[in-house]
Amino acid sequence: MHSRAYGLVSAIAVALAVSAQAAPAVDPLAPTAKWTAITRGDAAVPPMGWNSWNAFLTAIDEEKVMGTAEALVSTGLARLGYRYVNIDDGWWHKRRQSDGRMQIRTNIFPSAKVGGPQETSFRPLTDKLHAMGLKAGIYSDIGHNSCSQSGGSLNPQYLPEGSVAEREIGLAGNVDKDIQLYFKDWGFDYIKVDACGVDEQAQRRRARNGGGYNTHPNLIVDESLNRTNVPALRAAYQSVSDALQRARPNGDYVFSICAWGAGNVRAWGKEIGNVVRTSSDILPVWGRMLHVFDSAATRPLYAHPGAWNDPDMLFIGHGEFDVNHLVEAKSHFSLWAVINAPLLIGYDMRNAPKSLIDIWGNADLVAANQDKGGHQAVLAYDSNDVQIFVKTLAGTDRKIVAIFNRGVGPVDVLLMAKHLKFADGAPIVLRDLWSKATLDPFAKERSFKVAPRETLVFEASGTRALPDGQYLSEIPGRINVAHDGVVTPQADPTVHRSINPWEGTNSGGTRAMYAGWGGAMADQSPYGGTLLLRGEAFMTGIGILTNSRMEVRNDGAFRRFSARVGIDDNSLNTRDGARFLVYADGRLVAQSRALKFGDAPAVLTAVIGAAKIVELVVRQASGAQIPASAVWADAALLR
Ligand code: GLA
Repeated sequence: MHSRAYGLVSAIAVALAVSAQAAPAVDPLAPTAKWTAITRGDAAVPPMGWNSWNAFLTAIDEEKVMGTAEALVSTGLARLGYRYVNIDDGWWHKRRQSDGRMQIRTNIFPSAKVGGPQETSFRPLTDKLHAMGLKAGIYSDIGHNSCSQSGGSLNPQYLPEGSVAEREIGLAGNVDKDIQLYFKDWGFDYIKVDACGVDEQAQRRRARNGGGYNTHPNLIVDESLNRTNVPALRAAYQSVSDALQRARPNGDYVFSICAWGAGNVRAWGKEIGNVVRTSSDILPVWGRMLHVFDSAATRPLYAHPGAWNDPDMLFIGHGEFDVNHLVEAKSHFSLWAVINAPLLIGYDMRNAPKSLIDIWGNADLVAANQDKGGHQAVLAYDSNDVQIFVKTLAGTDRKIVAIFNRGVGPVDVLLMAKHLKFADGAPIVLRDLWSKATLDPFAKERSFKVAPRETLVFEASGTRALPDGQYLSEIPGRINVAHDGVVTPQADPTVHRSINPWEGTNSGGTRAMYAGWGGAMADQSPYGGTLLLRGEAFMTGIGILTNSRMEVRNDGAFRRFSARVGIDDNSLNTRDGARFLVYADGRLVAQSRALKFGDAPAVLTAVIGAAKIVELVVRQASGAQIPASAVWADAALLR
């Protein structure tokens, strides 16, 4: 098909998909008795492995990939869980026009030359990886073109070649064909799908760099959520998820959505993908690490087994995280580990020094990251200088605590039993997960000196403050925020705004850009405040907007639910009351009266029996446009 006409057809397809999506569903607050986040794919724990991008950009080849694979095995990192070997941008030669089949650049991947002059396959390479006990990953784009085709300083010899149509190597218009090829014929197990093909900025850059490309309708406008086509973006990624399920009905795949936190993906990605990028790219620069980390770190309620927040890949070994900056490198790794980020190494593993292998190889931190509970660490203390993150481990009373000094000066930090949700009177034992030393027991509090940019990480044993159950904010891996009540997506102002490395200071400033502000929060209100009900502050609870519904996986583990509920003292809407409702497997088991701003917290308790799914709904009394902030204080599942 002529490529212009083809562009039109894909625009129509997108429009149809949008109108299909737009049909109002059933009442989003009605109980479903189901877990509605993604359960497809192979991501019960965060994926681990290696990706070529941070190590090589587009300058990849077979020797580098296989050399890495061998190093993962010989260093023992593969045994520790680093099993995905993922090829990023740069592998493609062209899309064959006779049948649309993608062709591999065989001068850099010689084993891909399998047949006649036009025939290429990655099967020999994935066979080798599989024989080594590893898994294989590939990269594509949701539009027609890739990020590397948007130009910049990348090696032109790694760009796709040929006519405009031959250089359309992205998935748009070819979703099923490409996914079948990559997963059935070529044997890949993991795909990262980028979004430069549908991004206004990338398309503009591509046109500037010499043209010769068809444009795709802009689904992402980085600086404007209002001009971003969220339903179409979502529908496009959904079509990939469906194609993956057709190609691998047994669910043996990982789907990584790489839409850089744009298009409100932080809210819906968990319904479609296994790995959801929450920000633009990481670079080996401290401020940039803070930027991408922050985009995921306040969002534990949006990740759980099956779908993980992805602040981008590890940059350990480079720049401010290289062998001369081991404090920074260890911080970077500790932080990724405790927030359950995918652990994808981005280094030339053929030459990895021992000091770096020891970081990736910290078995205690890997085990924390891979803990089957899937509870992303929650902020127990927050400031721009120091943060304390606490992660619950499944099936034990132990927790992981990370004390992170973000700044340039040393700080004194008091770690409190209450940060850990441990009882004040009982002894607490900390084991340092870097030095492996066990510290003397203490009760109630202990002080630490934390060096600039250092992260202390401990496994903590103590007596849980709530002995007969678990607070919901301790177990975010059991929670799916099915509907967070956000009416108008807003950019999150709490993400560290580093200088944009691609623009420098050539603008009025770095702006807040990732929608998700006002989303559900563990131990904080939706807008980052303390949970407050008529002057009473709560360190524990869920802050969420009204007109919201959360699904909690109980799976028969607990028998009762309890909370104190009400409208937050810092609610934007102080006029409209709301009712709090609790359902067990779809059955209403408790509800509050309509609570208003300024009311005392109401006690809500319910018998949930052996329910599989508990649903927590807040329904605003009137149809007001501005949501109020609701508090599920001390919300807990009890035995
Ligand atoms: C985007 C992605 C990166 C990498 C490059 C490849 O920038 O966010 O992770 O895949 O494209 O060009």
